[in-house]
Amino acid sequence: MAAATTAPAPLDEAKLNAFVGKMVGDVGATLTGALVIIGDRLGLYRALAEQGPLTSEALAQSTGTHERYVREWLANQAASGYLEYDPATRQFTLPPEHQPVLADETSPVMLCGLYQIAQTLYADEPAITDAFKSGRGFGWHEHDSRLFAATERFFRPGYNAHLVADWIPALDGVEAKLRAGASVADVGCGLGTSTIVMAKAFPASKFVGFDYHDGSIAAARRSAERAGVGDRVRFEVASAQTFPGSGFDFITCFDCVHDMGDPVGAAAHMRAALKPDGTFMMVEPFANDKLEDNLNPVGRVYYAASTILCTPSSLAQEVGLGLGAQAGEERMRAVFTQAGFTQFRRATETPFNLVFEARP
Ligand SMILES: C[S@@+](CC[C@H](N)C(=O)[O-])C[C@H]1O[C@@H](n2cnc3c(N)ncnc32)[C@H](O)[C@@H]1O
Repeated sequence: MAAATTAPAPLDEAKLNAFVGKMVGDVGATLTGALVIIGDRLGLYRALAEQGPLTSEALAQSTGTHERYVREWLANQAASGYLEYDPATRQFTLPPEHQPVLADETSPVMLCGLYQIAQTLYADEPAITDAFKSGRGFGWHEHDSRLFAATERFFRPGYNAHLVADWIPALDGVEAKLRAGASVADVGCGLGTSTIVMAKAFPASKFVGFDYHDGSIAAARRSAERAGVGDRVRFEVASAQTFPGSGFDFITCFDCVHDMGDPVGAAAHMRAALKPDGTFMMVEPFANDKLEDNLNPVGRVYYAASTILCTPSSLAQEVGLGLGAQAGEERMRAVFTQAGFTQFRRATETPFNLVFEARP
């Protein structure tokens, strides 16, 4: 007897074509990422911002580059909608609204650092593909070494814009303590930018930054010297679960708790290191609690980084909880409650960050 067969459902041609169109757009953006890095590195965006509109000849001349390369780059950038092209004058413009994203190092929406992160994710793809099969973690320190400076560059404008102006004032009584002189630990501090931003703003306080990655700590020490805050900032190689010291008034974690294998152990250690009236502040990527509420452009970026960076980092450590970069408020509350904190609240947020306050 012949087996019953079910005819496949006919394809919806319009849906197929719409998806092909979307993927062509996405692959265009993916390929163009390398050209964004080139434009950033060679100062092409900055020259357009400062001197534009420019022809390819003028841009090449002012940046010391070869016109034939620049002409092709400009065509891609105009096709991408990043630049505007005037056929009458053959000039290209970086619109004022695009300049904070591509040409202004101080802008909180400068995204060139994120492209540099993307570059390192591609470089590490073979190792992560293997990890999918083996299940082993891949530590933060194992990544392409360009990752560390790229991450610092991506986060720096946000810390400069929000940390002292918005995030610390959103906490209960912390700003006054920092002004008067407080003892502060910045745990998982990476290259120490958040530590140094706080140290510049609150000269009466003392700061120590901890990170388990020795290369990041060495770079943080150099940055503190350059910033002239060496008298009140020190950096030490130590994990969040074991760092030395106690009696801190304020402990911070910037975009690192979800990278830890044992965030409950780290939170318990930080609680024990705080004074009884101390405060813990945690900055995490913006996330809603439910997956379905994170299926948007910001969630897309964070889930990509989480797959290649954050989750493997956690899985490489003891416990290997693997919170992921989109853990959300309720999951984080559970971690801090389990660690013994009695108060936990969302103090403030930006489109990219959640800022939590916890008390012992
Ligand atoms: C995404 S980076 C953020 C670095 C820095 N806080 C910033 O905002 O630029 C995550 C950092 O967490 C650190 N990290 C991960 N697990 C850690 C642990 N268990 N103890 C201490 N640092 C840890 C990594 O070395 C890395 O520097």
